[in-house]
Amino acid sequence: MVKRAEIERDRYYIMAKDAGFRSRSAYKLKDMDAKFRLIKRGDTVIDLGAAPGGWSQVASELTGPHGLVISVDLQHIERIEGVVTVRSDITARELTIEKLREVLMLHGRDGGAGAEVVLSDAAPKLSGNRVYDHFRSFELSKSALDIATALLKPGGNFVAKIFQGEYYSTFYKLVDGMFNDTRAYRPKASHKRSAEVFVIGKGFKAKN
Ligand SMILES: C[S@@+](CC[C@H](N)C(=O)[O-])C[C@H]1O[C@@H](n2cnc3c(N)ncnc32)[C@H](O)[C@@H]1O
Repeated sequence: MVKRAEIERDRYYIMAKDAGFRSRSAYKLKDMDAKFRLIKRGDTVIDLGAAPGGWSQVASELTGPHGLVISVDLQHIERIEGVVTVRSDITARELTIEKLREVLMLHGRDGGAGAEVVLSDAAPKLSGNRVYDHFRSFELSKSALDIATALLKPGGNFVAKIFQGEYYSTFYKLVDGMFNDTRAYRPKASHKRSAEVFVIGKGFKAKN
Protein backbone atom coordinates (compact mmCIF):
# COMPACT_ATOMS: atom_id res chain seq x y z
CA MET A 1 0.00 0.00 0.00
CA VAL A 2 1.42 3.43 -0.97
CA LYS A 3 0.99 6.11 1.70
CA ARG A 4 -0.59 9.50 0.87
CA ALA A 5 2.56 11.46 1.88
CA GLU A 6 4.66 9.21 -0.40
CA ILE A 7 2.28 9.85 -3.29
CA GLU A 8 2.57 13.61 -2.86
CA ARG A 9 6.38 13.48 -2.85
CA ASP A 10 6.31 11.31 -5.95
CA ARG A 11 7.95 12.89 -9.01
CA TYR A 12 5.36 11.56 -11.48
CA TYR A 13 2.49 12.74 -9.28
CA ILE A 14 3.93 16.28 -9.33
CA MET A 15 4.63 16.15 -13.08
CA ALA A 16 1.08 14.94 -13.79
CA LYS A 17 -0.41 17.71 -11.66
CA ASP A 18 1.70 20.36 -13.40
CA ALA A 19 0.91 19.03 -16.88
CA GLY A 20 -2.84 18.73 -16.21
CA PHE A 21 -2.95 14.92 -16.46
CA ARG A 22 -5.59 13.28 -14.31
CA SER A 23 -3.29 10.51 -13.14
CA ARG A 24 0.42 9.82 -12.73
CA SER A 25 -0.28 6.68 -14.79
CA ALA A 26 -0.29 8.97 -17.84
CA TYR A 27 3.53 8.73 -17.70
CA LYS A 28 3.40 4.93 -17.95
CA LEU A 29 1.63 5.15 -21.31
CA LYS A 30 3.95 7.95 -22.48
CA ASP A 31 6.95 5.78 -21.56
CA MET A 32 5.57 2.70 -23.37
CA ASP A 33 4.56 4.67 -26.45
CA ALA A 34 8.00 6.31 -26.69
CA LYS A 35 9.67 2.90 -26.41
CA PHE A 36 7.35 0.71 -28.52
CA ARG A 37 5.64 3.21 -30.91
CA LEU A 38 2.10 2.06 -30.17
CA ILE A 39 -0.17 4.95 -31.20
CA LYS A 40 -0.12 7.00 -34.41
CA ARG A 41 -1.94 10.14 -35.47
CA GLY A 42 -5.41 9.36 -36.79
CA ASP A 43 -5.65 6.03 -34.89
CA THR A 44 -8.75 4.74 -33.18
CA VAL A 45 -7.82 3.75 -29.61
CA ILE A 46 -9.95 1.83 -27.10
CA ASP A 47 -8.84 2.49 -23.50
CA LEU A 48 -10.21 -0.10 -21.04
CA GLY A 49 -10.27 0.63 -17.30
CA ALA A 50 -9.72 4.27 -18.19
CA ALA A 51 -10.91 6.33 -15.18
CA PRO A 52 -10.00 8.98 -14.20
CA GLY A 53 -8.63 9.40 -17.74
CA GLY A 54 -4.84 10.00 -17.71
CA TRP A 55 -4.14 7.40 -20.42
CA SER A 56 -7.05 8.70 -22.49
CA GLN A 57 -5.59 12.22 -22.32
CA VAL A 58 -2.23 10.92 -23.57
CA ALA A 59 -3.90 8.77 -26.27
CA SER A 60 -5.96 11.75 -27.42
CA GLU A 61 -2.80 13.90 -27.75
CA LEU A 62 -1.13 11.15 -29.79
CA THR A 63 -4.07 10.42 -32.11
CA GLY A 64 -4.76 14.11 -32.78
CA PRO A 65 -7.92 15.71 -34.17
CA HIS A 66 -8.58 12.99 -36.76
CA GLY A 67 -8.22 10.12 -34.31
CA LEU A 68 -10.78 8.68 -31.94
CA VAL A 69 -10.33 7.59 -28.32
CA ILE A 70 -13.04 5.52 -26.64
CA SER A 71 -12.65 5.20 -22.88
CA VAL A 72 -14.37 2.45 -20.91
CA ASP A 73 -14.73 2.11 -17.15
CA LEU A 74 -17.10 0.94 -14.43
CA GLN A 75 -16.83 4.46 -13.05
CA HIS A 76 -17.92 7.76 -14.50
CA ILE A 77 -15.15 9.58 -16.42
CA GLU A 78 -15.27 13.39 -16.45
CA ARG A 79 -15.48 14.75 -19.99
CA ILE A 80 -12.23 14.90 -21.97
CA GLU A 81 -12.20 16.95 -25.18
CA GLY A 82 -12.38 14.62 -28.21
CA VAL A 83 -12.82 11.43 -26.13
CA VAL A 84 -15.96 9.27 -26.11
CA THR A 85 -16.70 7.59 -22.78
CA VAL A 86 -18.58 4.33 -22.26
CA ARG A 87 -19.66 2.99 -18.87
CA SER A 88 -19.25 -0.77 -18.87
CA ASP A 89 -17.87 -3.74 -16.96
CA ILE A 90 -15.18 -5.20 -19.23
CA THR A 91 -15.64 -8.67 -17.75
CA ALA A 92 -19.12 -8.56 -19.36
CA ARG A 93 -17.26 -9.00 -22.63
CA GLU A 94 -20.12 -9.44 -25.14
CA LEU A 95 -22.05 -6.45 -23.80
CA THR A 96 -18.92 -4.26 -23.80
CA ILE A 97 -18.04 -5.33 -27.36
CA GLU A 98 -21.60 -4.53 -28.48
CA LYS A 99 -21.44 -1.02 -26.91
CA LEU A 100 -18.03 -0.40 -28.49
CA ARG A 101 -19.20 -1.54 -31.94
CA GLU A 102 -22.03 0.98 -31.72
CA VAL A 103 -19.65 3.82 -30.88
CA LEU A 104 -17.22 2.78 -33.62
CA MET A 105 -19.96 2.75 -36.25
CA LEU A 106 -21.41 6.03 -35.00
CA HIS A 107 -18.00 7.59 -35.65
CA GLY A 108 -17.61 6.13 -39.13
CA ARG A 109 -15.32 3.26 -38.12
CA ASP A 110 -15.71 -0.40 -39.01
CA GLY A 111 -17.85 -1.99 -36.27
CA GLY A 112 -16.27 -5.40 -37.02
CA ALA A 113 -12.62 -4.47 -36.56
CA GLY A 114 -12.32 -0.73 -36.26
CA ALA A 115 -9.52 -0.08 -33.76
CA GLU A 116 -5.78 0.26 -34.34
CA VAL A 117 -5.00 0.07 -30.62
CA VAL A 118 -6.58 -1.51 -27.51
CA LEU A 119 -5.16 -0.51 -24.12
CA SER A 120 -6.02 -1.80 -20.66
CA ASP A 121 -4.81 -0.36 -17.38
CA ALA A 122 -7.80 -1.97 -15.63
CA ALA A 123 -7.04 -3.07 -12.09
CA PRO A 124 -9.15 -4.62 -9.35
CA LYS A 125 -9.57 -2.90 -5.97
CA LEU A 126 -6.69 -4.39 -3.97
CA SER A 127 -7.70 -6.79 -1.20
CA GLY A 128 -4.17 -7.16 0.17
CA ASN A 129 -4.20 -10.87 -0.71
CA ARG A 130 -1.62 -11.08 -3.54
CA VAL A 131 -2.90 -14.39 -4.93
CA TYR A 132 -6.51 -13.24 -5.04
CA ASP A 133 -5.57 -9.82 -6.49
CA HIS A 134 -3.45 -11.54 -9.15
CA PHE A 135 -6.31 -13.80 -10.16
CA ARG A 136 -8.72 -10.85 -10.48
CA SER A 137 -6.13 -8.92 -12.47
CA PHE A 138 -5.73 -11.93 -14.80
CA GLU A 139 -9.51 -11.95 -15.33
CA LEU A 140 -9.42 -8.26 -16.35
CA SER A 141 -6.42 -8.73 -18.66
CA LYS A 142 -8.04 -11.74 -20.30
CA SER A 143 -11.26 -9.74 -20.79
CA ALA A 144 -9.21 -6.97 -22.41
CA LEU A 145 -7.58 -9.50 -24.73
CA ASP A 146 -10.97 -10.92 -25.75
CA ILE A 147 -12.25 -7.41 -26.48
CA ALA A 148 -9.10 -6.65 -28.47
CA THR A 149 -9.48 -9.87 -30.45
CA ALA A 150 -13.01 -8.82 -31.43
CA LEU A 151 -12.23 -5.21 -32.35
CA LEU A 152 -8.60 -4.83 -33.46
CA LYS A 153 -7.65 -4.37 -37.10
CA PRO A 154 -4.97 -6.75 -38.43
CA GLY A 155 -1.61 -5.17 -37.55
CA GLY A 156 -3.10 -3.44 -34.50
CA ASN A 157 -1.42 -3.02 -31.11
CA PHE A 158 -2.39 -4.12 -27.60
CA VAL A 159 -1.23 -3.26 -24.07
CA ALA A 160 -2.60 -4.79 -20.87
CA LYS A 161 -1.62 -4.55 -17.26
CA ILE A 162 -1.43 -7.74 -15.22
CA PHE A 163 -0.20 -8.34 -11.67
CA GLN A 164 2.57 -10.93 -11.53
CA GLY A 165 1.57 -14.37 -10.30
CA GLU A 166 0.62 -17.87 -11.34
CA TYR A 167 -1.35 -16.96 -14.50
CA TYR A 168 1.09 -14.35 -15.78
CA SER A 169 2.87 -16.71 -18.19
CA THR A 170 -0.47 -18.12 -19.42
CA PHE A 171 -1.53 -14.59 -20.29
CA TYR A 172 1.81 -13.75 -21.93
CA LYS A 173 1.57 -16.89 -24.11
CA LEU A 174 -1.99 -16.03 -25.17
CA VAL A 175 -0.86 -12.57 -26.31
CA ASP A 176 2.21 -14.05 -27.96
CA GLY A 177 0.03 -16.38 -30.04
CA MET A 178 -2.03 -13.49 -31.40
CA PHE A 179 0.61 -10.83 -32.12
CA ASN A 180 3.77 -10.74 -34.23
CA ASP A 181 5.88 -9.20 -31.47
CA THR A 182 5.21 -9.57 -27.73
CA ARG A 183 7.06 -7.90 -24.85
CA ALA A 184 6.69 -7.48 -21.11
CA TYR A 185 7.56 -4.08 -19.67
CA ARG A 186 7.53 -2.23 -16.36
CA PRO A 187 7.38 1.51 -17.00
CA LYS A 188 9.64 3.80 -14.99
CA ALA A 189 6.56 5.32 -13.32
CA SER A 190 5.41 1.96 -11.89
CA HIS A 191 5.72 1.98 -8.10
CA LYS A 192 8.66 -0.19 -6.97
CA ARG A 193 6.45 -2.30 -4.70
CA SER A 194 3.71 -2.79 -7.29
CA ALA A 195 3.32 -6.26 -8.81
CA GLU A 196 2.14 -4.75 -12.10
CA VAL A 197 3.68 -5.54 -15.44
CA PHE A 198 2.42 -4.59 -18.89
CA VAL A 199 2.19 -7.13 -21.69
CA ILE A 200 2.52 -5.46 -25.08
CA GLY A 201 1.47 -7.12 -28.33
CA LYS A 202 2.41 -5.45 -31.62
CA GLY A 203 1.01 -6.48 -34.99
CA PHE A 204 -2.28 -8.29 -34.40
CA LYS A 205 -2.41 -11.36 -36.63
CA ALA A 206 -5.41 -11.46 -38.95
CA LYS A 207 -8.33 -13.54 -37.63
CA ASN A 208 -9.01 -16.70 -39.62
C1 LIG B 1 -5.39 2.15 -12.38
S1 LIG B 1 -6.98 2.70 -12.79
C2 LIG B 1 -6.77 3.28 -14.42
C3 LIG B 1 -6.05 4.58 -14.53
C4 LIG B 1 -6.10 5.19 -15.90
N1 LIG B 1 -5.31 4.42 -16.87
C5 LIG B 1 -5.60 6.59 -15.91
O1 LIG B 1 -4.51 6.85 -16.44
O2 LIG B 1 -6.30 7.47 -15.41
C6 LIG B 1 -7.86 1.20 -12.99
C7 LIG B 1 -9.28 1.36 -13.44
O3 LIG B 1 -9.80 0.07 -13.77
C8 LIG B 1 -11.20 0.15 -13.58
N2 LIG B 1 -11.82 -1.17 -13.58
C9 LIG B 1 -11.63 -2.17 -12.67
N3 LIG B 1 -12.41 -3.22 -12.97
C10 LIG B 1 -13.09 -2.90 -14.10
C11 LIG B 1 -14.06 -3.58 -14.89
N4 LIG B 1 -14.47 -4.81 -14.57
N5 LIG B 1 -14.57 -2.95 -15.97
C12 LIG B 1 -14.17 -1.69 -16.28
N6 LIG B 1 -13.25 -0.99 -15.57
C13 LIG B 1 -12.72 -1.58 -14.49
C14 LIG B 1 -11.34 0.87 -12.25
O4 LIG B 1 -12.63 1.40 -12.10
C15 LIG B 1 -10.23 1.93 -12.38
O5 LIG B 1 -10.77 3.15 -12.81
